[in-house]
Amino acid sequence: MALKINKNYKKIKKNYIFTEISEKKSNFLKSHKNAKIIDLGVGDVTRPLNKNMVAVINNALNEQLHKKTFKGYPPENGYDFLKKQIVNYYKQRNVSLTIEEVFVSNGACCDVTNILDLFKKNKTIIANPTYPAYYDSNFLQGNAIFLRDANQKNNFVLSPKNLKKRSYIIYLCSPNNPTGTVFTKQQLKEWVDFANLTSSIIIFDCAYESFISDVNLPHFIYEIEGAKKCAIEIASFSKMAGFTNLRCSWSIVPEELNINGYNINSMWSRRQCTKFNGVPYCVQKGAEYALSKNGQLECKKNIQYYKTNLKILTKCLKSLKIECFNSMHTPYVWFKCPQNYTSWQFFDLLLQDYQIVGIPGLGFGTQGEGFFRFSAFASRKDILIACERLKNFAIKKD
Ligand code: MLT
Repeated sequence: MALKINKNYKKIKKNYIFTEISEKKSNFLKSHKNAKIIDLGVGDVTRPLNKNMVAVINNALNEQLHKKTFKGYPPENGYDFLKKQIVNYYKQRNVSLTIEEVFVSNGACCDVTNILDLFKKNKTIIANPTYPAYYDSNFLQGNAIFLRDANQKNNFVLSPKNLKKRSYIIYLCSPNNPTGTVFTKQQLKEWVDFANLTSSIIIFDCAYESFISDVNLPHFIYEIEGAKKCAIEIASFSKMAGFTNLRCSWSIVPEELNINGYNINSMWSRRQCTKFNGVPYCVQKGAEYALSKNGQLECKKNIQYYKTNLKILTKCLKSLKIECFNSMHTPYVWFKCPQNYTSWQFFDLLLQDYQIVGIPGLGFGTQGEGFFRFSAFASRKDILIACERLKNFAIKKD
Protein backbone atom coordinates (compact mmCIF):
# COMPACT_ATOMS: atom_id res chain seq x y z
CA MET A 1 0.00 0.00 0.00
CA ALA A 2 1.30 3.44 -0.93
CA LEU A 3 2.41 5.88 1.74
CA LYS A 4 -0.29 8.27 2.85
CA ILE A 5 0.75 11.82 2.12
CA ASN A 6 -0.82 14.98 3.50
CA LYS A 7 -2.57 16.04 0.32
CA ASN A 8 -3.25 19.50 1.67
CA TYR A 9 0.35 20.40 0.75
CA LYS A 10 -0.73 20.06 -2.88
CA LYS A 11 -3.87 22.10 -2.36
CA ILE A 12 -2.31 25.03 -0.53
CA LYS A 13 -0.91 28.03 -2.45
CA LYS A 14 2.65 27.26 -3.61
CA ASN A 15 4.32 29.88 -1.44
CA TYR A 16 3.80 31.36 1.98
CA ILE A 17 3.08 35.04 1.43
CA PHE A 18 6.38 36.31 2.89
CA THR A 19 8.34 33.86 0.72
CA GLU A 20 6.44 35.07 -2.31
CA ILE A 21 7.36 38.68 -1.53
CA SER A 22 11.06 37.77 -1.10
CA GLU A 23 11.01 35.91 -4.41
CA LYS A 24 9.46 38.86 -6.22
CA LYS A 25 12.07 41.15 -4.74
CA SER A 26 14.97 38.87 -5.77
CA ASN A 27 13.55 38.44 -9.27
CA PHE A 28 13.27 42.19 -9.65
CA LEU A 29 16.87 42.61 -8.54
CA LYS A 30 18.04 40.05 -11.10
CA SER A 31 16.82 42.28 -13.90
CA HIS A 32 17.54 45.65 -12.19
CA LYS A 33 20.98 45.08 -10.72
CA ASN A 34 21.50 48.65 -9.56
CA ALA A 35 18.07 49.19 -8.08
CA LYS A 36 18.05 50.49 -4.52
CA ILE A 37 14.98 48.81 -3.13
CA ILE A 38 13.44 50.20 0.04
CA ASP A 39 12.09 47.15 1.77
CA LEU A 40 9.04 47.84 3.94
CA GLY A 41 7.72 44.35 3.41
CA VAL A 42 8.34 41.50 5.84
CA GLY A 43 8.47 42.87 9.37
CA ASP A 44 12.07 42.12 10.24
CA VAL A 45 13.97 44.27 12.74
CA THR A 46 16.91 46.34 11.51
CA ARG A 47 18.24 48.10 14.64
CA PRO A 48 21.37 46.54 16.15
CA LEU A 49 21.20 45.05 19.63
CA ASN A 50 22.26 47.13 22.59
CA LYS A 51 25.91 46.58 23.62
CA ASN A 52 24.99 45.66 27.20
CA MET A 53 22.77 42.90 25.91
CA VAL A 54 25.48 41.63 23.57
CA ALA A 55 27.95 41.66 26.49
CA VAL A 56 25.55 39.47 28.49
CA ILE A 57 25.22 37.06 25.55
CA ASN A 58 28.99 37.00 25.01
CA ASN A 59 29.63 36.31 28.68
CA ALA A 60 27.14 33.46 28.57
CA LEU A 61 28.82 32.05 25.50
CA ASN A 62 32.20 32.30 27.23
CA GLU A 63 30.88 30.04 29.97
CA GLN A 64 31.04 27.27 27.36
CA LEU A 65 34.85 27.64 27.44
CA HIS A 66 35.20 26.26 30.93
CA LYS A 67 34.61 22.83 32.34
CA LYS A 68 32.84 24.23 35.37
CA THR A 69 30.36 26.35 33.50
CA PHE A 70 30.00 24.36 30.27
CA LYS A 71 26.41 23.41 29.45
CA GLY A 72 24.92 20.67 27.31
CA TYR A 73 21.28 20.45 26.21
CA PRO A 74 19.15 23.28 27.51
CA PRO A 75 15.94 22.29 29.34
CA GLU A 76 13.30 21.89 26.58
CA ASN A 77 10.92 24.32 28.22
CA GLY A 78 13.50 26.93 29.18
CA TYR A 79 15.87 27.75 32.03
CA ASP A 80 14.24 28.76 35.31
CA PHE A 81 16.12 32.08 35.35
CA LEU A 82 14.30 33.18 32.18
CA LYS A 83 10.97 31.72 33.20
CA LYS A 84 11.18 33.66 36.50
CA GLN A 85 11.98 36.83 34.58
CA ILE A 86 8.93 36.26 32.37
CA VAL A 87 6.77 35.70 35.46
CA ASN A 88 8.04 39.06 36.79
CA TYR A 89 7.31 40.74 33.46
CA TYR A 90 3.66 39.67 33.77
CA LYS A 91 3.55 40.96 37.36
CA GLN A 92 4.06 44.46 35.94
CA ARG A 93 0.53 44.13 34.59
CA ASN A 94 -0.80 42.36 37.68
CA VAL A 95 -0.90 38.95 36.09
CA SER A 96 0.37 36.17 38.30
CA LEU A 97 1.85 33.03 36.79
CA THR A 98 3.85 30.06 38.01
CA ILE A 99 7.08 29.15 36.25
CA GLU A 100 5.47 25.85 35.26
CA GLU A 101 3.08 27.85 33.10
CA VAL A 102 5.91 29.41 31.08
CA PHE A 103 7.40 27.60 28.07
CA VAL A 104 10.41 29.15 26.37
CA SER A 105 10.57 28.53 22.65
CA ASN A 106 12.27 29.74 19.50
CA GLY A 107 9.52 31.71 17.79
CA ALA A 108 5.90 32.75 18.10
CA CYS A 109 5.20 31.52 14.57
CA CYS A 110 6.37 28.00 15.53
CA ASP A 111 4.22 27.97 18.65
CA VAL A 112 1.02 29.33 17.08
CA THR A 113 1.25 26.61 14.46
CA ASN A 114 2.75 23.72 16.49
CA ILE A 115 0.06 24.10 19.15
CA LEU A 116 -2.26 22.38 16.68
CA ASP A 117 -0.43 19.12 17.51
CA LEU A 118 -2.53 18.99 20.68
CA PHE A 119 -5.79 18.95 18.76
CA LYS A 120 -7.31 16.76 16.09
CA LYS A 121 -9.59 18.00 13.32
CA ASN A 122 -11.51 20.99 14.64
CA LYS A 123 -13.35 24.12 13.65
CA THR A 124 -11.05 27.11 13.75
CA ILE A 125 -11.96 30.78 13.87
CA ILE A 126 -9.53 33.12 12.19
CA ALA A 127 -9.86 36.86 11.58
CA ASN A 128 -9.94 38.05 7.99
CA PRO A 129 -7.44 39.69 7.56
CA THR A 130 -4.78 38.52 10.01
CA TYR A 131 -1.34 36.85 10.29
CA PRO A 132 -1.25 34.26 7.46
CA ALA A 133 0.40 31.42 9.40
CA TYR A 134 -2.86 30.74 11.29
CA TYR A 135 -4.74 30.04 8.08
CA ASP A 136 -1.98 28.06 6.39
CA SER A 137 -1.27 25.80 9.37
CA ASN A 138 -4.95 25.08 9.96
CA PHE A 139 -5.45 24.41 6.28
CA LEU A 140 -2.55 21.96 6.23
CA GLN A 141 -3.96 20.20 9.27
CA GLY A 142 -7.34 19.86 7.55
CA ASN A 143 -9.29 21.89 10.10
CA ALA A 144 -12.55 23.52 9.06
CA ILE A 145 -11.67 27.20 8.90
CA PHE A 146 -14.28 29.82 9.76
CA LEU A 147 -13.01 33.17 8.53
CA ARG A 148 -14.62 36.10 10.33
CA ASP A 149 -14.47 39.57 8.86
CA ALA A 150 -12.47 42.12 10.79
CA ASN A 151 -12.65 44.79 8.13
CA GLN A 152 -13.33 48.48 7.71
CA LYS A 153 -17.06 47.93 8.33
CA ASN A 154 -16.48 46.79 11.91
CA ASN A 155 -13.36 48.92 12.53
CA PHE A 156 -11.23 45.81 12.02
CA VAL A 157 -12.46 44.38 15.34
CA LEU A 158 -13.13 40.65 15.46
CA SER A 159 -16.18 39.83 17.56
CA PRO A 160 -17.89 36.62 18.73
CA LYS A 161 -21.34 38.13 18.13
CA ASN A 162 -23.65 35.92 16.05
CA LEU A 163 -21.28 32.97 16.23
CA LYS A 164 -22.90 29.56 16.60
CA LYS A 165 -22.32 28.35 20.15
CA ARG A 166 -20.02 25.39 19.66
CA SER A 167 -16.39 24.58 20.41
CA TYR A 168 -13.69 26.16 18.30
CA ILE A 169 -9.99 26.86 18.24
CA ILE A 170 -9.99 30.67 18.17
CA TYR A 171 -6.98 32.64 16.97
CA LEU A 172 -6.79 36.19 18.30
CA CYS A 173 -3.93 38.54 17.53
CA SER A 174 -3.63 41.80 19.46
CA PRO A 175 -2.24 44.19 18.28
CA ASN A 176 -3.49 42.51 15.14
CA ASN A 177 -1.04 41.99 12.33
CA PRO A 178 -1.63 43.64 9.83
CA THR A 179 -4.52 45.94 10.81
CA GLY A 180 -3.04 47.19 14.10
CA THR A 181 -6.30 46.71 16.01
CA VAL A 182 -5.85 46.22 19.75
CA PHE A 183 -8.68 44.61 21.70
CA THR A 184 -10.03 46.64 24.58
CA LYS A 185 -10.57 44.78 27.86
CA GLN A 186 -14.30 44.69 27.13
CA GLN A 187 -13.85 43.23 23.65
CA LEU A 188 -11.43 40.63 24.94
CA LYS A 189 -13.77 39.74 27.79
CA GLU A 190 -16.47 38.93 25.22
CA TRP A 191 -14.12 36.39 23.64
CA VAL A 192 -13.09 34.90 26.98
CA ASP A 193 -16.73 34.54 28.03
CA PHE A 194 -17.61 33.00 24.68
CA ALA A 195 -14.73 30.52 24.90
CA ASN A 196 -15.64 29.51 28.45
CA LEU A 197 -19.29 29.12 27.51
CA THR A 198 -18.55 26.93 24.48
CA SER A 199 -15.49 25.02 25.79
CA SER A 200 -13.42 26.61 23.04
CA ILE A 201 -9.74 27.40 23.25
CA ILE A 202 -8.22 30.78 22.46
CA ILE A 203 -4.72 31.01 20.99
CA PHE A 204 -3.79 34.58 21.87
CA ASP A 205 -0.88 35.94 19.87
CA CYS A 206 0.55 39.03 21.53
CA ALA A 207 3.86 39.17 19.62
CA TYR A 208 3.48 42.95 19.28
CA GLU A 209 2.33 43.75 22.84
CA SER A 210 5.44 45.85 23.51
CA PHE A 211 4.22 48.34 20.88
CA ILE A 212 1.04 49.15 22.83
CA SER A 213 1.33 52.68 24.11
CA ASP A 214 -1.99 53.11 25.94
CA VAL A 215 -1.69 51.77 29.51
CA ASN A 216 -5.40 51.01 29.59
CA LEU A 217 -5.24 48.51 26.76
CA PRO A 218 -4.59 44.89 27.73
CA HIS A 219 -1.22 43.42 26.73
CA PHE A 220 -1.96 39.91 27.93
CA ILE A 221 -5.15 37.89 27.79
CA TYR A 222 -4.71 36.90 31.44
CA GLU A 223 -5.57 40.48 32.38
CA ILE A 224 -9.12 39.30 31.68
CA GLU A 225 -10.94 37.28 34.32
CA GLY A 226 -11.56 33.69 33.31
CA ALA A 227 -8.84 33.62 30.63
CA LYS A 228 -6.74 31.01 32.43
CA LYS A 229 -9.54 28.52 31.88
CA CYS A 230 -9.64 28.94 28.12
CA ALA A 231 -6.52 30.61 26.69
CA ILE A 232 -2.96 29.91 25.64
CA GLU A 233 -0.83 32.99 25.07
CA ILE A 234 2.11 33.29 22.71
CA ALA A 235 4.65 36.11 22.83
CA SER A 236 8.05 36.84 21.40
CA PHE A 237 11.37 38.61 21.85
CA SER A 238 11.65 39.08 18.07
CA LYS A 239 10.13 42.51 17.65
CA MET A 240 10.36 43.54 21.29
CA ALA A 241 14.09 42.96 21.70
CA GLY A 242 15.38 42.57 18.15
CA PHE A 243 15.71 38.76 18.35
CA THR A 244 14.54 37.76 14.86
CA ASN A 245 17.94 36.16 14.32
CA LEU A 246 18.72 35.00 17.87
CA ARG A 247 15.27 33.32 18.16
CA CYS A 248 13.49 33.33 21.50
CA SER A 249 9.82 33.44 22.42
CA TRP A 250 7.53 32.12 25.09
CA SER A 251 4.11 30.59 25.51
CA ILE A 252 1.94 30.62 28.58
CA VAL A 253 -0.16 27.52 29.12
CA PRO A 254 -2.10 27.83 32.40
CA GLU A 255 -1.97 24.85 34.73
CA GLU A 256 -5.72 25.03 35.17
CA LEU A 257 -6.43 24.78 31.43
CA ASN A 258 -8.30 21.49 31.02
CA ILE A 259 -10.35 20.35 28.06
CA ASN A 260 -12.53 17.24 28.30
CA GLY A 261 -10.36 15.92 31.12
CA TYR A 262 -7.08 16.64 29.31
CA ASN A 263 -4.58 18.98 30.90
CA ILE A 264 -3.23 21.21 28.14
CA ASN A 265 -0.21 22.34 30.16
CA SER A 266 1.11 18.79 30.57
CA MET A 267 0.29 17.96 26.96
CA TRP A 268 2.26 20.95 25.68
CA SER A 269 5.17 20.04 27.92
CA ARG A 270 5.04 16.48 26.58
CA ARG A 271 4.93 17.78 23.02
CA GLN A 272 7.84 20.15 23.48
CA CYS A 273 10.02 17.62 25.30
CA THR A 274 9.44 15.15 22.45
CA LYS A 275 9.80 17.46 19.49
CA PHE A 276 11.81 20.50 20.55
CA ASN A 277 15.42 20.82 21.68
CA GLY A 278 15.21 24.10 23.52
CA VAL A 279 16.75 27.54 23.07
CA PRO A 280 20.54 28.07 23.51
CA TYR A 281 21.68 29.18 26.96
CA CYS A 282 23.36 32.36 25.72
CA VAL A 283 20.18 33.42 23.88
CA GLN A 284 18.08 32.84 26.98
CA LYS A 285 20.56 34.95 28.95
CA GLY A 286 20.08 37.73 26.42
CA ALA A 287 16.30 37.34 26.71
CA GLU A 288 16.55 37.50 30.50
CA TYR A 289 18.48 40.74 30.14
CA ALA A 290 15.86 42.13 27.70
CA LEU A 291 13.23 41.82 30.44
CA SER A 292 15.41 43.34 33.17
CA LYS A 293 14.75 46.94 34.15
CA ASN A 294 17.65 48.28 32.07
CA GLY A 295 16.99 45.86 29.25
CA GLN A 296 13.38 46.99 28.95
CA LEU A 297 14.46 50.63 28.82
CA GLU A 298 17.00 49.86 26.09
CA CYS A 299 14.51 47.82 24.05
CA LYS A 300 11.98 50.64 24.35
CA LYS A 301 14.45 52.98 22.63
CA ASN A 302 14.43 50.80 19.52
CA ILE A 303 10.66 50.42 19.67
CA GLN A 304 10.39 54.20 19.88
CA TYR A 305 12.67 54.54 16.88
CA TYR A 306 10.41 52.27 14.80
CA LYS A 307 7.34 54.10 16.06
CA THR A 308 8.81 57.40 14.93
CA ASN A 309 9.46 55.80 11.53
CA LEU A 310 5.84 54.79 11.46
CA LYS A 311 4.67 58.30 12.30
CA ILE A 312 6.74 59.71 9.43
CA LEU A 313 5.40 57.11 7.00
CA THR A 314 1.81 57.56 8.11
CA LYS A 315 2.07 61.34 7.86
CA CYS A 316 3.45 61.01 4.37
CA LEU A 317 0.67 58.64 3.28
CA LYS A 318 -1.98 60.87 4.78
CA SER A 319 -0.52 63.89 3.00
CA LEU A 320 -1.12 61.95 -0.22
CA LYS A 321 -4.77 61.56 0.84
CA ILE A 322 -4.29 57.86 1.47
CA GLU A 323 -6.52 56.47 4.20
CA CYS A 324 -4.49 54.91 7.05
CA PHE A 325 -5.73 52.87 10.01
CA ASN A 326 -4.75 52.05 13.59
CA SER A 327 -1.02 52.72 13.50
CA MET A 328 -0.74 53.77 17.17
CA HIS A 329 0.23 50.45 18.70
CA THR A 330 2.10 48.51 16.01
CA PRO A 331 5.18 48.67 13.80
CA TYR A 332 2.95 48.55 10.70
CA VAL A 333 0.79 50.99 8.83
CA TRP A 334 -2.29 49.50 7.20
CA PHE A 335 -3.77 51.62 4.48
CA LYS A 336 -6.18 51.68 1.59
CA CYS A 337 -4.59 51.36 -1.83
CA PRO A 338 -5.01 54.64 -3.70
CA GLN A 339 -7.06 54.94 -6.86
CA ASN A 340 -8.81 51.63 -6.36
CA TYR A 341 -5.72 49.60 -7.16
CA THR A 342 -5.98 45.98 -6.09
CA SER A 343 -3.39 45.14 -3.49
CA TRP A 344 -1.20 43.15 -5.93
CA GLN A 345 -1.49 45.84 -8.61
CA PHE A 346 -0.30 48.36 -6.05
CA PHE A 347 2.52 46.02 -5.02
CA ASP A 348 3.69 45.72 -8.64
CA LEU A 349 3.42 49.44 -9.23
CA LEU A 350 5.44 50.27 -6.12
CA LEU A 351 8.10 47.74 -6.96
CA GLN A 352 8.42 48.52 -10.67
CA ASP A 353 8.16 52.30 -10.62
CA TYR A 354 9.31 53.28 -7.13
CA GLN A 355 11.41 50.34 -5.95
CA ILE A 356 9.48 50.08 -2.71
CA VAL A 357 8.41 46.71 -1.32
CA GLY A 358 5.36 46.33 0.89
CA ILE A 359 2.86 43.57 1.59
CA PRO A 360 -0.38 43.38 -0.40
CA GLY A 361 -3.39 43.20 1.91
CA LEU A 362 -4.73 40.15 0.10
CA GLY A 363 -1.81 38.19 1.55
CA PHE A 364 -3.51 38.46 4.96
CA GLY A 365 -6.93 37.32 3.77
CA THR A 366 -9.60 38.15 1.23
CA GLN A 367 -10.79 41.09 3.31
CA GLY A 368 -7.33 42.59 2.87
CA GLU A 369 -8.00 43.13 -0.83
CA GLY A 370 -7.65 46.81 -1.70
CA PHE A 371 -5.39 47.39 1.32
CA PHE A 372 -1.65 47.44 1.84
CA ARG A 373 0.87 47.14 4.69
CA PHE A 374 4.16 48.93 5.19
CA SER A 375 6.56 47.93 7.92
CA ALA A 376 8.42 50.58 9.92
CA PHE A 377 11.30 48.20 10.68
CA ALA A 378 13.76 50.16 8.56
CA SER A 379 16.45 52.80 8.92
CA ARG A 380 15.27 56.41 9.19
CA LYS A 381 17.15 57.12 5.99
CA ASP A 382 15.17 54.46 4.10
CA ILE A 383 11.89 55.71 5.50
CA LEU A 384 12.68 59.22 4.29
CA ILE A 385 13.70 57.95 0.85
CA ALA A 386 10.46 55.96 0.66
CA CYS A 387 8.48 59.11 1.51
CA GLU A 388 10.27 61.10 -1.20
CA ARG A 389 9.51 58.40 -3.76
CA LEU A 390 5.88 58.23 -2.67
CA LYS A 391 5.58 61.98 -3.20
CA ASN A 392 6.61 61.40 -6.81
CA PHE A 393 3.78 58.94 -7.06
CA ALA A 394 1.42 61.74 -6.02
CA ILE A 395 2.91 64.15 -8.56
CA LYS A 396 2.62 61.58 -11.38
CA LYS A 397 -0.97 60.74 -10.57
CA ASP A 398 -1.97 64.47 -10.60
C1 MLT B 1 5.40 40.00 9.38
O1 MLT B 1 5.94 40.60 8.45
O2 MLT B 1 4.19 39.96 9.53
C2 MLT B 1 6.24 39.24 10.34
O3 MLT B 1 7.43 39.81 10.51
C3 MLT B 1 6.49 37.89 9.89
C4 MLT B 1 6.70 37.02 11.07
O4 MLT B 1 6.78 37.49 12.20
O5 MLT B 1 6.71 35.82 10.86
